[in-house]
Amino acid sequence: MTLEAVLASLHMLAILTLVVFLTSQAALCRSEWMSAAVVRRLARLDLIYGLAALALLLSGLARLVWGVKGLSWYVGQPLFHVKMTLFVIAVLLSLVPTFSFRRWRRTLDAGGELPAGPEVVRVRRFIMWQAHIIPVIAVVAIFWSRGW
Ligand code: HEM
Repeated sequence: MTLEAVLASLHMLAILTLVVFLTSQAALCRSEWMSAAVVRRLARLDLIYGLAALALLLSGLARLVWGVKGLSWYVGQPLFHVKMTLFVIAVLLSLVPTFSFRRWRRTLDAGGELPAGPEVVRVRRFIMWQAHIIPVIAVVAIFWSRGW
């Protein structure tokens, strides 16, 4: 039971960290706020976001293996597959901001310009998609863990 509580705590800490850093990206990734400092901050926020996603994945895998219900119960539930599919979609969506922020920072470092307005809007859309999918994953997880 202690291990279960520790793994659940790690999973929750990773979720909260992920949400905080995704929210910060959503707040900063606007053409009105764009500046050299914001471009660098976005790249930094995205790095921490990626580490939180990794922690989320590892804590989730640990719960699958060592969780009280057992691996076969977890993966035998249809909602597990819904949850994993949504997680993979969120990870794929996150690649666009990650590569864009890095490109923006490289352009700045090379003496280039700030990203254009439409480009910022496009990348923001990918952030917002993730921000809408992650709460759905949490709700699916709640039903899944109760055997729906
Ligand atoms: C954005 C991604 C994720 C979110 C928002 C999320 C959310 C949650 C939530 C809210 C719970 C608690 C459910 C409850 O007990 O009421 C949970 C449990 C759990 N999650 Fe995740 N999760 C995510 C990713 C993952 C991944 C990638 C894995 C596995 C590879 C995973 C595996 C698990 C496991 C095994 C449990 C324990 C369920 C139980 O014992 O009842 N999660 N998750």
